[in-house]
Amino acid sequence: MIAGPSTQPLEIAINDKTARVGVVGLGYVGLPLIRAFIDAGYRTLGFDVDQRKVDQLQSGKSYIKHIPSDWIAGWLAKDRFEPTSDMSRLREADAVLICVPTPLNESRDPDLSYIESTAVQIGQVLRKGQLIVLESTTYPGTTRDVVLPILERSGLKVGQDFFLAYSPEREDPGNPSFTAHSIPKVVGGMDPLSSRLAELLYGQAVVKTVSVSSCEVAEACKILENTYRSVNIAMVNELKVLFDRLGIDIWEVIDAAKTKPFGFQAFYPGPGLGGHCIPIDPFYLSWLARRHEMPTRFIELAGEINTSMPRYVVSRLAEALNDQSKPLRGSKISILGIAYKKDVDDPRESPSFELLKLLDSRGAILSYSDPFVPQLPRMRHYQLPQLQSQPLSAEYLASQDCVLIATDHSAFDYEFIVSHSTLIIDTRNATKNVLANRDRIHKA
Ligand SMILES: NC(=O)c1ccc[n+]([C@@H]2O[C@H](COP(=O)([O-])OP(=O)(O)OC[C@H]3O[C@@H](n4cnc5c(N)ncnc54)[C@H](O)[C@@H]3O)[C@@H](O)[C@H]2O)c1
Repeated sequence: MIAGPSTQPLEIAINDKTARVGVVGLGYVGLPLIRAFIDAGYRTLGFDVDQRKVDQLQSGKSYIKHIPSDWIAGWLAKDRFEPTSDMSRLREADAVLICVPTPLNESRDPDLSYIESTAVQIGQVLRKGQLIVLESTTYPGTTRDVVLPILERSGLKVGQDFFLAYSPEREDPGNPSFTAHSIPKVVGGMDPLSSRLAELLYGQAVVKTVSVSSCEVAEACKILENTYRSVNIAMVNELKVLFDRLGIDIWEVIDAAKTKPFGFQAFYPGPGLGGHCIPIDPFYLSWLARRHEMPTRFIELAGEINTSMPRYVVSRLAEALNDQSKPLRGSKISILGIAYKKDVDDPRESPSFELLKLLDSRGAILSYSDPFVPQLPRMRHYQLPQLQSQPLSAEYLASQDCVLIATDHSAFDYEFIVSHSTLIIDTRNATKNVLANRDRIHKA
């Protein structure tokens, strides 16, 4: 047990595993977190406003590819998991962990509406002794300036009646090497007792907790991690364009550079940034910086370079078709991969949508293949043809003027793809091990 000034009932409940853990937001982050607490011996309550998701979970079915339905059914059978859309039941949870979305709004500013509405729902039923932890990625100050005032409208006082902390989610969906349990968790509380309780709770379910002095440090830590990725990816994306002009293969350069045992971490270029985090989170920080009258040049520049990548890929594709005396207009182009990264089914912010839009506006005849995305989902900012994933048969590949590899899913048979396609644009170096017909492959 972690030493401290007083023993709270919650501390006892955490230690003897009778504490009920509530998770709000049953998505890519919330469900793996529930798994970590169930594996640690806790009973969990899962909250979501999306009734369809709750219904599916209640019938023992998963809607996320890498979370098997067996797990959900097993948790239900052992009475370890109760999914619900009834927010009044938040009162039953001893600890409430918030994993709701934090997107950007139309003007690309932080949209905290999901966090705010969750805080309102918790505030309506908040009771003495509860621990609330925000996990959603956000700018430093959100827990103190946005969540705390809403919760204190209940008349209860933080650090005394209830406890509040921030602990960023570091989930990496589809990465088989890391689970919610095996990734260390940074924890920063609003006050010493909140910190202690949050650290004690996560300490039961994850391999290691890293205690920091405040919620703001924990919030900034997550944004630093994602900005670091965005900036480094932008750097290799820019170098990709330069090296290509010089006739040098960027992927070969990176593979050589990463043999240095210190001072270098490999980041890889691609067709643009995707996912819920890297294209979005740095802009939470630049928004905050603007309010403090400071520009964040690295963030803006990285965003500019990364968002220019789909156009670069399309220009390389057009050049390659041109070399075969074909215009983009009327050419059949197949995009391989709609998910934003390999081996996941998540299409959020995927650069494939921008590629489809650019190619569509230039008159290409489009189709796609993605084993995890059977139908092209409707996305707010894109008006695209209603397409369905095509099976990668030899006839289909041969019928296309160009195959554009946007996501390097392991399920694709690259040897087969290259052998049956006339032209391949590879944005991920997915075909690196294919030896035959390399003259058909153009990296971009
Ligand atoms: N997906 C990732 O890889 C990842 C990694 C690290 C951090 N994060 C962060 O974690 C947070 C959640 O991301 P996600 O990918 O799990 O999102 P998600 O969209 O997969 O899941 C969020 C869930 O919250 C539900 N929801 C929305 N408002 C709600 C409310 N008021 N009450 C209850 N449920 C509500 C939605 O219906 C949805 O099911 C975001 O801040 C994200 O930036 C995501």
